[in-house]
Amino acid sequence: MKLNLLVVAGDGIGPEVTNEAVAVLRQAMEGGGHELVVTEKRIGGIAIDTDGTPLPAETLEAALASDAVFLGAVGGTKWNALPPNTRPEAGLLKLRAALGGFANLRPAFAIKELAANSPLKAEVVAGADILFVRELLGGLYFGSPRAWDKAAGEAWNTMRYTRDEIIRVARIAFELAQKRGKKLTSVDKANVLEVSQLWRATVTEVAADYPDITLEHQLVDSMAMLLMTSPRNYDVVLTENLFGDILSDESAVITGSLGMLPSATIGGKINLYEPIHGSAPDIAGKSLANPLGAIMTAALVLRHSAGLEAEAALIETAVRKVLEAGYRTADLARGNTTDFKVLSTTEMGQQVRATIAAQLAHS
Ligand code: IPM
Ligand code: MN
Repeated sequence: MKLNLLVVAGDGIGPEVTNEAVAVLRQAMEGGGHELVVTEKRIGGIAIDTDGTPLPAETLEAALASDAVFLGAVGGTKWNALPPNTRPEAGLLKLRAALGGFANLRPAFAIKELAANSPLKAEVVAGADILFVRELLGGLYFGSPRAWDKAAGEAWNTMRYTRDEIIRVARIAFELAQKRGKKLTSVDKANVLEVSQLWRATVTEVAADYPDITLEHQLVDSMAMLLMTSPRNYDVVLTENLFGDILSDESAVITGSLGMLPSATIGGKINLYEPIHGSAPDIAGKSLANPLGAIMTAALVLRHSAGLEAEAALIETAVRKVLEAGYRTADLARGNTTDFKVLSTTEMGQQVRATIAAQLAHS
């Protein structure tokens, strides 16, 4: 198969991790006799500096003409003073809306080799394997009215959902639960918010079509605690946009580093792939960033946009093997560093590719 991928590497460590991920993606595809065609465009702060807008028309056109979009990261201290609608992040939100993907899949899983990296006790995280399904196109991020009335000293955003928006994302979550542990936890704040009451009622209604799935509801505040005390109790976790943003970052401590985790946004015209970490401006340009989250994201491109499950698994296995062999980036090398071989961003990418090459040679 042939995949036309638009790469928008963005800001900070975005370009560094994206380079490694795309090289791994190319190797895995070409190794299986497939073709990867990459187009690169600007997004985020770099696009503000060059084009005067965080999502240039050219980038949007290329995105809509692609089979899938891969994003590195957007944002940085340089653009922090800008208002929300002109910031680097606004470019990403516009891109998300244009591509139409409403179901953001964010796994959070324990990795045995990284157990010491988690601040949680090893016996609490061991075996944890959660998949967040975060609604991505609704809620406070997109609801109107929204404004900051400076003269009045007042600002407001709107958490708004329609039944249809809840139904479509809930269906994806139930279907994923069917392929996993058959348990779905829906998160809301139904003790306070009308929008959450609609959310809970609608998810309960959808559940009737999935009798094989055990559905439970949790309030978001209590869920924030339960994810840390008993992460193994959760399989698929369905949330609205902002709750999912918060809980998925929180749950990265199960894995031990935000730098390890991938995401895929599906359900729309064109899927969007992004590691869940940000642009980390403090370490940008130093080859210190962990490219494994971006590399795991490349595996999701193969799984969800190319139908290449074997190639996706090849990448995920290679990441495990590299960790098993003691290779770490700086973020993962806490504790007794003499046990580890600490690699730069590019060296870690090379190590993963060498491992894939060895696997391909054996197959
Ligand atoms: C994420 C990020 C984004 C979000 C920002 C950069 C707009 O935090 O992907 O989690 O809030 O969705
Ligand atoms: Mn976030």
